[in-house]
Amino acid sequence: MSVSSPSQLLPLKKVGQIVAQTIRLMREKARPGMTTRDLDRLAHAHFNPLGARSAPRLTYDFPGETCISVNDQIAHGIPGDRVLQKGDLVNVDVSLECDGYFADSGASFCLEEASQEKKRLCATSEHILNTVVSAVRHGMHIREIGKRIHSMATQAGYNVILNLAGHGTGRALHEEPFDILNYEDPRDNRVLESGSVIAIETFISTGAQFAMEAKDGWTLTTHDGSLVAQFEHTLVVRNQEPIILTA
Ligand code: CO
Ligand code: CO
Repeated sequence: MSVSSPSQLLPLKKVGQIVAQTIRLMREKARPGMTTRDLDRLAHAHFNPLGARSAPRLTYDFPGETCISVNDQIAHGIPGDRVLQKGDLVNVDVSLECDGYFADSGASFCLEEASQEKKRLCATSEHILNTVVSAVRHGMHIREIGKRIHSMATQAGYNVILNLAGHGTGRALHEEPFDILNYEDPRDNRVLESGSVIAIETFISTGAQFAMEAKDGWTLTTHDGSLVAQFEHTLVVRNQEPIILTA
């Protein structure tokens, strides 16, 4: 969507803040010995009383309130009986609807005793997202986002996932512009405009370049056990620094 009035910005900020609080809570509470379902229930217990609903459940009938993906799972992991272990790399992706407005955010973090490799991967993906997001401006080519993510990832010795992408959001979980890639497609001449609400997602990988669908029909994994750290923010494009709704 494109924001054209303060009356649209307020509900976007509201849902963005509920998403951000939910992610902070999940990061705080995640412990070895918990199941991913336990973590999902904590999230729901936070956002449900605030009037928010799970966007993937609402939109796609996803069998969970949030997406929780562990280690070689990249995205869309279904909360369930999996018990979190020491050293796990955990990704939580929270997208919510409130009063008809949507926001989408994700974060990756390590449980206690994780390897330096996992910690560096998370820190790098977060740094790339924050750097790229803060530089978004009206008039910028969408392909510039992918170019910057890809360049920073390869400089740090990583790959990006080529078949997952950020997207427009605001009045639906996923809307135009689709395919805000993690690399530069030179044929893409789309330009960002002030007011546009977009979700930028970094998928930084230690090896694999493609996400594969698991047998459950939802979870996306790497084919070779390599690790991916995703971070995501929803923002409003402006002439100056964007408004990061999920910070
Ligand atoms: Co997301
Ligand atoms: Co998204």
